[in-house]
Amino acid sequence: MIKNIAVIPGDGIGPEVTRETIKVLNAVALKFHHQFNFTECLMGAVAIDNAGDPLPQNTIDTCLKSDAVLLGAIGHPKYDNDSNITVRPLDGLLRLRKELQLFANIRPLTTYKSLHHLSPIKDNQLNGVDFVIYRELTGGIYFGKKEMNEEGTQASDLCIYQKFEIERIAKLAFAAAQKRRNKLTLIDKANVLITSSLWRKTVQEIAIGYPEVKVDYLYVDNAAKQLIINPKQFDVILTENMFGDILSDEATALSGSLGLLPSSSIGEKNALFEPIHGSYPQAAGKDIANPIGSILSGALMMEHFGLFEEAKSIKDAVEWTLAHGFVTKDIDSINSYFTSTIGELISDYISNDMPQNLNTINMAFGQATII
Ligand code: IPM
Ligand code: MN
Repeated sequence: MIKNIAVIPGDGIGPEVTRETIKVLNAVALKFHHQFNFTECLMGAVAIDNAGDPLPQNTIDTCLKSDAVLLGAIGHPKYDNDSNITVRPLDGLLRLRKELQLFANIRPLTTYKSLHHLSPIKDNQLNGVDFVIYRELTGGIYFGKKEMNEEGTQASDLCIYQKFEIERIAKLAFAAAQKRRNKLTLIDKANVLITSSLWRKTVQEIAIGYPEVKVDYLYVDNAAKQLIINPKQFDVILTENMFGDILSDEATALSGSLGLLPSSSIGEKNALFEPIHGSYPQAAGKDIANPIGSILSGALMMEHFGLFEEAKSIKDAVEWTLAHGFVTKDIDSINSYFTSTIGELISDYISNDMPQNLNTINMAFGQATII
């Protein structure tokens, strides 16, 4: 299979983690006889610095032509923390989502037994937690009309949804529930917001086509609590743009490390894959960032291409590194390995199943001899 992949390394740790994912995807290509062509382009602070625009037109063109986009992270404190600056790196990301019509942001939440101790949630609450959030990504309050009066004393953000915008993501979420545990939870604020009433009504209509999927409705305030006190109840969560933004960040606390979590953003014709974490500028260039969120985003990309065995080989390799203590500083501050070493181990594992020159006794202590 030949696939053209647009790569947007972006800012901060983005280039470092993306480099490891490319390494891993190259190992997959070699092992399974595919050809992945990577084309780098600019977005974010680096694009403002180089081209005066957080999303240059040729980046949009390259992404539109590609089979998938691999994004690192965007954002730099020099732009993000200055309220006088009108062009911000994140405007690039918001515009790209709109340009590519990436209406469904999919954030799977898997917990790893070996990392339970890192979560603020009790161990027994975490066993068996496995859900996926379907967040609407191109509508709602993010993209509604924004106004400020001339005196700068009044402002408003319009939250607006069209029925078709709800239908198209709801269908994806129901289809996902069918392949999982047949449960879907719609999270809204239908007791107060009329947009939420439209969500409920539309989801109820769509649900008729998926009789085997059990549908739950939760108000967002209660859902925020349920994610902490009983996360096991969730299978597929469906929600609108801003609720999804907030709840998916909350959900990352369950996993123990933000650095592990991948996401995909899917449209009718395009798809983008990125870790959930941000650009973490303090760690940039130090080779200490966790590349696994990005590498697992690569696995989601393989699944999107229908390459399930390839995706599984990446996930197995990641599990192997975690289980043997090959982790970055965010997970173990004492026995930690570099970003590039983790990427190397994962791609080696994919190429040879298991690096040959590892001393298994040391491995158990998280100290491999090849390092
Ligand atoms: C995310 C981020 C973005 C969002 C920001 C950077 C605009 O928080 O991808 O979740 O709010 O969607
Ligand atoms: Mn967010």
